[in-house]
Amino acid sequence: MINLDINGTLISLSPAEPKKLMDYLREDLGLTSVKDGCSAGACGTCTVIVDGVAQKSCVSVASLEPDEDDFDDDDEPVATDENPVIKITTVEGLSEREKAVYDYAFAEAGAVQCGFCTPGMVLAGKALIDKNPSPTDQEIKLALRRNICRCTGYVKIIEAIQLAAKLLREDLPIPQNNASGKLGSNIHRIDAREKTLGTGEFVDDVTVPGMIYGKALRTQYPRAKVLKIDTRAAKNHPDAECIITAKDVPGNNKLGHLVKDWDALIAEGDTTRYVGDAIALVAAKNQSSLDEILSLIEVEYEELTPLTNPVEAMAEDAPALHEGGNILRHEKVTRGDAQTAIANAAFTVTQHYSTPFTEHAFMEPECAIAIYEDGGILLYSGGQGIYDDQHEIAEVLGIPNEKVRVQSKLVGGGFGGKEDMSVQHHAALLAWHTQKPVKIKFSRQESLLIHPKRHAMEMDLTTACDENGILLGMQASIVLDTGAYASLGGPVLQRACTHAAGPYNFQNVDIDGKAVYTNNPPGGAFRGFGVSQSAFAFEANLNLLAEKVGISPWEIRYRNAIRPGQSLPNGQIADESTALVECLEAVKDIYESSKYAGIASSFKNSGLGVGVPDIGRAILSVEQGKVHIRSSAACIGQGIGTVTLQTVCEVTSLPPELIVVEAPDTSRTPNSGTTTASRQTVFTGEAVRRAAVKVKQELSSGSTLADLEGKEFYGEYKGETDPMGSAKANPVSHVAYGYAAQVVILDEKGKVEKVVAAYDLGKLVNRKAAEGQIEGGIVMGLGYALTEDYPLVNSVPKVSYNGLGLWKAAETPAMETIIVEREFNAEIAHGTKGVGELATIPTAPAAQGAFYAFDGEFRTKLPMDNTPYRKAKKPKKKRVKK
Ligand code: FES
Repeated sequence: MINLDINGTLISLSPAEPKKLMDYLREDLGLTSVKDGCSAGACGTCTVIVDGVAQKSCVSVASLEPDEDDFDDDDEPVATDENPVIKITTVEGLSEREKAVYDYAFAEAGAVQCGFCTPGMVLAGKALIDKNPSPTDQEIKLALRRNICRCTGYVKIIEAIQLAAKLLREDLPIPQNNASGKLGSNIHRIDAREKTLGTGEFVDDVTVPGMIYGKALRTQYPRAKVLKIDTRAAKNHPDAECIITAKDVPGNNKLGHLVKDWDALIAEGDTTRYVGDAIALVAAKNQSSLDEILSLIEVEYEELTPLTNPVEAMAEDAPALHEGGNILRHEKVTRGDAQTAIANAAFTVTQHYSTPFTEHAFMEPECAIAIYEDGGILLYSGGQGIYDDQHEIAEVLGIPNEKVRVQSKLVGGGFGGKEDMSVQHHAALLAWHTQKPVKIKFSRQESLLIHPKRHAMEMDLTTACDENGILLGMQASIVLDTGAYASLGGPVLQRACTHAAGPYNFQNVDIDGKAVYTNNPPGGAFRGFGVSQSAFAFEANLNLLAEKVGISPWEIRYRNAIRPGQSLPNGQIADESTALVECLEAVKDIYESSKYAGIASSFKNSGLGVGVPDIGRAILSVEQGKVHIRSSAACIGQGIGTVTLQTVCEVTSLPPELIVVEAPDTSRTPNSGTTTASRQTVFTGEAVRRAAVKVKQELSSGSTLADLEGKEFYGEYKGETDPMGSAKANPVSHVAYGYAAQVVILDEKGKVEKVVAAYDLGKLVNRKAAEGQIEGGIVMGLGYALTEDYPLVNSVPKVSYNGLGLWKAAETPAMETIIVEREFNAEIAHGTKGVGELATIPTAPAAQGAFYAFDGEFRTKLPMDNTPYRKAKKPKKKRVKK
C-alpha cells in the first residue's frame, strides 16, 4: 500500500489505484483547488506539494516517488523508501495564516486574472518559501518552471510570492485594504480570494447528482464523405447511456453566431471540413468508458483531398467547401487615391508577410454541464457570452430561447477562443436525449484540435512616404485562412483591414482583404482580432521607410502619429482623448538610447463598431441592503466584475462592501453582449454607470438603501457607429480607440532584455489590473513573435500543449508599463477604453524591429527564425544509401 497524508488526513491507496493522483484528489476528496489543465504534465495547474516539493499531480499514485526532474535544492530525491508516508498538501490544506497571507499577497500584487493557474502558483511559491524564506526573483522564476500562466505575464505572480515571503518571514499582520473602490483606487479584485484559495467554481469543479458524461467521435480525415455510421455495437456497451448522430438533432444542425455554417454533427452523406468535426455523440455512466464506447462506432469514409491553404481553395477547379463557395468574405477599405500617391512618392517599400495559426492555450480546457429541466435546459458554461450559448442551444434543440437558462461559472481564460460553441451544444443535445445531467469536458488535445485559432494570414503591402518621412499612401492585399467554418472570420477580416494602415495621419489607402475557407481548423476570434497580423506587416514596412528617409523608426512614427482632430486612414476623426503622441514621447529616450531596440505603435477599437448593433445592459437592484450589479458580461480573466463595482462606487460613493457583483445568468442578468472586441469596460461599464446615476439620484434626494429595497435601476448603452463602406466623409468606425507605443530591447546575445510599454487607456480604472493586462499581453506577444506556432500537415494539427511555444516565468524579460491619462470630456464610461487586445498587438512588430537592429536580417514571417528562441528549419537532406 502507499500511505498518504493528504492535508493531515491519513489514507492508504493501492499502488494499482487506477486514477491519477489529481483525479483522486478532485473526484474522491473534493479538493478542487487542484486544477486539470492538461493531464499531461505540461501546464502546472495541478501542482501539489509532495513531501515539501511542488510537483504535478497528474501522475499515477504508484509513481509518487520523485522522477528525475523532481529534486530538492540539494539535488536529492525527497520521497524515498525511508519516508513511508508521503505528505501531500493542496491549497485547502494551508494553515489559516498561510491562506490569509497568500490571499492578500496575490490580490495586492494584482497576480490573479482568470485564476485557473493560481492555486498551483501558490503552492509552487509556498514550497519555495518554506525552504527559502528570502527568495530572489530568479529563484522564484526557477520555482515556477513547471507552471504556466497565460494571463498575467508572471511579473505580478513573482511580486505576490515576494510579498507573501515578506509577510511570513517578518511575521507581519495582514494589512487592511481600505480602498474606496472609486476609479483609480487600489481596490483588490472581487474574485481574488476565491481564485487564490481554489474555492471558486469552474464548470469542471461542479458535480451534479446523477451526472453522466459525454464525448464526441471526431472524424479521421479533414475532408471525407461520411458514407455510413454504425452505432449498434456501441449502443450495446453496458456503460452507454445514449448515442446520437445528426439525424437525432431536433432543431437546426447548423450553428454559428454570425454565419450558420458549422454542423453540430456531420450526417451520413455529408462531407467533413476539418479534423475537429463531430460525427456522433456518446453519453456514458462513467467518464472512463467514453473512449471504449467511441471505439465501437464504425464509420465508413470516402477520403477526399483537403484544401490546405487559401491558394488551393481559390483555384478555379477547387471543390466548394460551403454552398456559397470558398470565399467567406471580401472586404475593401478605400480612401483617397493610393495608386497615384504611391506613384508620386519619394520612397516606397513593398514586402510580403506571413503569420501562422496560433492557439489561445487558455489554461482551462472547455467544459459544460447541461441539465434537463422541465422541457428545457439549464447549462453551466465557461464561455464568453451566456446569451450566445442560449441562442445556439435553443437553435440546435428547436426550442424557444426562454427554455434555455445559462449560468456562467468562472472562466479559466478565453482570449476569444471560447466565443464559439465547443462543448455547450453537445452537452445540451445529450441532456435533451437522456434527460440526465451531462458533463462534457475537453481533454487538452481536444481543445487544441477543435476551437478556432488566430487566423494565419498572407499579406502584401506597399507603403509610401515623402522625403521627410510623411506617409502618403498604402496598398495592401490581405488573405486570411479562415479554415473550415466562418466563426468570427468576417469581423476579423474587417479589423485586419480597418487597422492595416496603423494609427497614422494619412488618407490614401487601398486595402483588399479576403477570408477564405480551407480544410484547416477554423480561424476565429483571438486577442488582437486580425490587427495583430496586419500591424506586424505595416509596422515592419515603416522601419524600412525610415531607413530610406534617413530618420529613426521612432521619428517616422512620431511625425505621422495620429493627433486629436486628424483623420485616421479609415476616415474616423481622432477624438480629444487620443494620446498616441504622448505614448511615443514616453518611450523615446529608452528607444533612442538602446543599441538593439525595436519600436511599434498600435491602436485597437473598443466595441464591435462598423454599424453592428452593440448594446451594453445592466440592472442594479437593491437587495437586503446591498446594491446588486446584474450584467451578463463574462469575466474571462480581465476583471469586468471589478470594473463594474468600481463604476458604482465612483458614481454613488457607496463603499465596496455594500455592492454585490452577480455572476452572469440568463434568468437574472440582462444581455450585455459577448466578451469580445475589448468592449465590456466601455459598453457594460457605461450601462452600469447609467444605472448607478439613477441610484445616486435617489440617494441624493434623501432615500436610504433601506428605502430602495426591492427596487431595480436599469442602464443601457448603445454604441452608434457607421458601417464599412459608409458614404460619409468621416465615418465613425468605432466608439473608442486605445493607443500604445512599445519598445522591445535585446541584450548582446539577442535575448529579450526589457520591454517598455506606454498605453493610452483613457481614464484609468484600476492600475494593477491594467498593468496586468499589458504585461500578459506583452508575454503573449513575445510568444507570437518568437516561439508560438500551430503547425499543420495536410490540414491536421501536429502539436501538443508542451510544443506550443508558450513562455514561462524564467524567459520573461523586465517590463516597464507607463499609463498615459489625458484630460478630456468623459461622456461615455467615464472615458475608459479597452486594453485587453491592445496589449498584445505592438509586441511582435517591436520585436521584429529589435532583431533587425540586432543582426540586420529583415524578418517577414512569424514566429521569427534565426533568433536565440528559434532556429530556421533546415530543408531535409535526402538520405543517400552507402
Ligand atoms: Fe494565470 Fe489565468 S491567471 S492562467
